[in-house]
Order: sequence, then C-alpha cells, then structure tokens
Amino acid sequence: MLTNKWYLVCPSNELRNEIRQYKILGEEIIIYRNPDKSITALEDRCCHRNVNLSLGYLNDDRIVCGYHGWEYDRNGACAKIPSQLEGDKIPPTAKIKSYPTKDFNQWVWIFMGDEERANEINPTDIPEMNEWPFTYKEYIFKADLEATAESLIDPYHIAFVHRNSIKSFMGQIKESPADFNLKVLDDGLEGFYRRANVGTKAEKVYFGDEENIGTRIRFYYPNISRLEIRFKERILLILEHVMQVDEEHVEMKQITLWKNIFPKFPAFAKFFMAKKSAKIVEEDIDFLSSNLEILNKTKNQFHEVSVKGDEVSLAFRKFWRKKLQETE
Ligand code: FES
Ligand SMILES: [Fe+2]
Repeated sequence: MLTNKWYLVCPSNELRNEIRQYKILGEEIIIYRNPDKSITALEDRCCHRNVNLSLGYLNDDRIVCGYHGWEYDRNGACAKIPSQLEGDKIPPTAKIKSYPTKDFNQWVWIFMGDEERANEINPTDIPEMNEWPFTYKEYIFKADLEATAESLIDPYHIAFVHRNSIKSFMGQIKESPADFNLKVLDDGLEGFYRRANVGTKAEKVYFGDEENIGTRIRFYYPNISRLEIRFKERILLILEHVMQVDEEHVEMKQITLWKNIFPKFPAFAKFFMAKKSAKIVEEDIDFLSSNLEILNKTKNQFHEVSVKGDEVSLAFRKFWRKKLQETE
C-alpha cells in the first residue's frame, strides 16, 4: 500500500454537507464538507461500540453516531455523549482517526499515511484539472495495481483493446519501429510519439485527415497516468488515478478532459465523452481482470515475453518498482 501520498476523492463541487463513504488503502473513511466550506474526513467507526458512523447523520460539522448519538468533531474527538449528565467527563480515549484533506485544482484530495507529513508532500499538480471541461467515473475491480497504472500509457494496446471505441482517432502508431522519446523523471515518466488517424469518413470530417496525431504520455508517481492526444487545436486528455482499495480490488478514477472539442455544444461534448470514456475503461477492465486471474491461477509460473515495442511498459515497471523499494 502506497502511504504518505495524496489521493483523489471527488470533484470539489460534488462534496456537500452530506456523508460520503470511501474505502482507500483498506481504510473505511467518511468525508463531508462543513458549513464553513472546510472538509472533514474521519475513520468510519464509532469508538463506543464499533459501528459505522456512516449509519449516522450530520449535525453541522459534527457526525452523530446513529446508535447512541455520540457526536464527533472535525478532528475526530468525541464532543458530546447524550447519556452523560452535565459535568461528566468525556473519556479522552473517545477519539477516532481524522485525515488531512485539501481542495486543490478543483478536486478534493485526502492524505493517507503519517499525518505530520501531509504538509511536506504536495498533491500531483495537473493544471488542466482546474481549467478544462471534464467527465469522470470510478471503477472498482479485481486487478493488479501495477498493471492498472500501466495500462493507459501502453502505446500498442489502443488499436486492439479499444478497436471498437477509439481506435480510429487514436489510431495506429505512425512510425515503425516507434520512437517513444521516453524520459525518466524524478516523479515519473514521459514520452511522445505519433499516431495516424485511421478513422471513418465521419470522424475524418471532424478530426481531420491527420497523419501525425501527437500523443503524449506521462506517469506521475505515485498513481496518475496521463494520455494526451492532439489533433490540430483539439486536445483530448485522459487521466487515470489508481489505488488499492483492499487486498483484492483496485479503484480507478478515470477523468477525461478536453479542449476545443464541440466547444459550441458543451453539454453534448460532456455526454459524448462520458459515453466513450465508460466504454474505453470497460474494455481495459476485461483485460486487466483476465491478467490477474491467470496470474493467480498459475502462481506466476509463466514469464512474460516482451519485445522492443514494450519499451514504455518495461520502463514504467522499472521506475515504479524502484520507487516502491525506496518507499519501503
Ligand atoms: S455505538 Fe456509536 S454511540 Fe454507541
Ligand atoms: Fe486502455
């Protein structure tokens, strides 16, 4: 589990004075916005009789346990016990874990790990998240975290896994053998290469007869992969934020952003992108799940066979594993 990192929760404008439940790195968490716009994130457990606080309700910035009404403040300290008489002391151990949070680039982030380190470490800064229209969806499925993080930036899978959704304008890789112009950075990897549009007539009308569609890939350690495709002034940007939910499941938040695509019809653009994105992720999940199933069944007895074209994946894994070792 990758601790001491900031994780994405949801778009800032979705978080209201209502309880939302999440499971992140095996921990059950409730999160809500306080009336003064700050955010509270607490362990989803009442320390009185160990039940989920998410079964309770909010009273301004306090969460009230649904069982016997104990109230917790934004730091997770119990602030009221209805069965006590005036003057009775609240036991100092009546406290649950709270988590640092942030509104950053119009998303809510939560810090998982050693609370004191939250100030030294920044969330991943992707300015487009703050500026461009987007659509997003969360998916929880059984898969290997590394394979999931790698899937978006794997260049050769698009024309095959996504042959029924986006092959046409994300197209075939232009040069063969392709040069991915890969660079290993301190906080990830980046690369650039070209694709050709092999689209239908309709798509060619819109996306152009573009022979050299610039494709940029980026991985931001610890857990956001980025794929950016430019056709003339139009830009499609896909972000995939992955994390371990528990021992078996990973969660992927797929965020699709765009610029200059159907700019006169923003509602249509959103509808179109949401539909396409969902299809794309479902296609990926089939393969990620299949991969995990075979790994589990065969207990890693089969080595993979890799070729030059797997350069991006191999570089990603090398970087990722080195980082994981450093963190341990
Ligand atoms: S279990 Fe929460 S108040 Fe008793
Ligand atoms: Fe994919």
